[in-house]
Amino acid sequence: PTAQPVIVAIDGPSGTGKSSTSKAVAAQLGLSYLDTGAQYRAITWWMVTNGIDLTDPTAIAAVAGKPEIVSGTDPLAPTITVDGYDVAGPIRTQEVTSKVSAVSAVPEVRTRITELQRSIAAGAEEGIVVEGRDIGTTVLPDADLKIFLTASPEARAARRSGELKGSDVAATRAALIQRDAADSSRKTSPLAKAGDAVEVDTTELTLAQVIECVVTLVEEKRAGK
Ligand code: DC
Repeated sequence: PTAQPVIVAIDGPSGTGKSSTSKAVAAQLGLSYLDTGAQYRAITWWMVTNGIDLTDPTAIAAVAGKPEIVSGTDPLAPTITVDGYDVAGPIRTQEVTSKVSAVSAVPEVRTRITELQRSIAAGAEEGIVVEGRDIGTTVLPDADLKIFLTASPEARAARRSGELKGSDVAATRAALIQRDAADSSRKTSPLAKAGDAVEVDTTELTLAQVIECVVTLVEEKRAGK
């Protein structure tokens, strides 16, 4: 019998190993992969580039439908373009990172990006691992498996500083806590653990251990346990 597509939602704050885990799990299980944070970063990059006033939610809402965002879902080579332009590099700058919470708090932005996410998930033939903040709660509430990754603020800051060469841990920690607070307290679809999500605290785990844990959970689901 052909296996049904499996939908896996992986949510949590930044620095918990969400992206590395999601990509590895998808690659190992032959599933597609979607980085929803990259989509919010992409729309933010477009707004910054086009000089939209990001202190004005009405201005953001008015142009939320304009940029065409396309995500490539191969976990071994994920891509993201805006109006055909490869933005994989530009969406990781500090400027975009510091502005993405304001843009992603606007309901019109969330509606637009959520629709895109649902259509990508529906088109994934083998299934998909979708990582973000509100996937289990809002985007894909019927996901087969929901994981909520956590880690201590110290561990998260240390991991992020390791990614951003030359940055200091204290400043990274402060920026990260501020962004998580903004993402968790916004009105529309905040960062939250779904009631039926499995919480995995990664503070004391290696990346390999987290990947193994999630792969096992997916395989158990598929086996119908
Ligand atoms: O995962 P990331 O750090 O690349 O995400 C960037 C921002 O995008 C994050 O600060 C909040 C927003 N985001 C969101 O609001 N909803 C999601 N599903 C994913 C990300």
